Amino acid sequence: MKQDMIAILDLGSTKNTVLARAIRALGVYSEIHPHDITPEQLKSLPNVKGVVLFGGENRCVDGKNVDVDPAIYGLGIPVMAIDHPTAKVESIPAMPDEAALKSWLFDTCKAEANWNMKNFIADQIELVKKQVGSGKVLLALSGGVDSSVVAALLIRAIGKQLVCVHVNHGLMRKNESEMVCEVFGKNLGANLIYKDCTDRFLDKLAGVADPEKKRKIIGGEFIRVFEEEARKLEGIEFLGQGTIYPDIVESGTKTAKMVKSHHNVGGLPPDLQFKLVEPLLQLFKDEVRACGVELGLPPEMVYRQPFPGPGLGVRCTGAITRDRLAALREADAILREEIDAAGLKIWQYFTVIPDVRATGVKNNARAWDWPVIIRAVNTVDAMTAEVPEIPWPVLRKITNRIITEVPGVCRVCYELTPKPCSTIEWE
Ligand code: XMP
Repeated sequence: MKQDMIAILDLGSTKNTVLARAIRALGVYSEIHPHDITPEQLKSLPNVKGVVLFGGENRCVDGKNVDVDPAIYGLGIPVMAIDHPTAKVESIPAMPDEAALKSWLFDTCKAEANWNMKNFIADQIELVKKQVGSGKVLLALSGGVDSSVVAALLIRAIGKQLVCVHVNHGLMRKNESEMVCEVFGKNLGANLIYKDCTDRFLDKLAGVADPEKKRKIIGGEFIRVFEEEARKLEGIEFLGQGTIYPDIVESGTKTAKMVKSHHNVGGLPPDLQFKLVEPLLQLFKDEVRACGVELGLPPEMVYRQPFPGPGLGVRCTGAITRDRLAALREADAILREEIDAAGLKIWQYFTVIPDVRATGVKNNARAWDWPVIIRAVNTVDAMTAEVPEIPWPVLRKITNRIITEVPGVCRVCYELTPKPCSTIEWE
């Protein structure tokens, strides 16, 4: 293995990830592990140079105080305890500053600053090869950042032993499925199964206006298609997943309360017995992107905006119809093209076509067409969001293009509401 590691044991501190990032920022790889890791497991992790016990105010699971196995102090690995009253070593009261952290990492632990994406990828390739052997791995490749990066990494590691399945649910943005086939099928030579299930999804969604029902149909059908494909294949033992560190934290670690359940952590069908291959498990989002760049993925794939699993389905509000969905896809593509062409840096921007019609005049006749709503937000964590000022000439150009190029649209609106009180998406 190429890189040294600091193991942070999760005793419930809310600042574990902040510390992990601070250590990685100093060039040393750091992973967070559960507090009840056994000394043997800890010892068997590659290149552990130091252990941090990070306690804090909620050092408690199900009302019981948690602690580590005291044998951990006897492994001969330096232990730093922060705010941890029962530690068998001296405990410091708060997170160390950069100088103290540096001194502990490099003087006490003798760690080397060798954490970088090249080394991370080399290590993960070695680990995946060891885990998978001559077995086969199945991967649902949506084309999102995480699944794309995991695919690129697994292709490097095991080549054709990876089987990627890309399910087009008919709610993808313009050219999205084509890009997945081009990049993975053609350029990277992946073993790629492309399933165009547009009709299947849109038929199921016909007439369904309730947003929650729509989401359930899309999510449920997606798993069904994937299961069908999995059952057709033979000898698949492993399932690749683009689970990243925030997914685990948000789905609840042993000490952290559940924020929301992520489909790729909790939603696996129980009768599909796969072992998981999750090489991005310890990465934060920006590190996943850096990993993708290092693996040679195109920037437009790696720096993609967040895109909901149910895709354009949540932006074609009410009951989805094919003509309105087609208009939405075109309007969205125009918006993206023009914002990019204007060089504007906006966190997320897309269009919505609500299930209403408005009066217009087109070719000297009365029109009864849809409005397109432009939604653009700047945010740090998507919990709150502000609306950016898009220059008037850019808005005018987008409007002109949408009303002339997109059939069925007679109006363009720019939404001005921040989050709260509105959410970013419309459904
Ligand atoms: P809201 O609408 O809740 O959205 O303000 C916050 C952010 O989350 C994205 N979003 C999703 N992402 N699956 C995802 O992966 C989903 O089902 C989903 N719904 C919303 C949304 O685009 C925004 O960035």
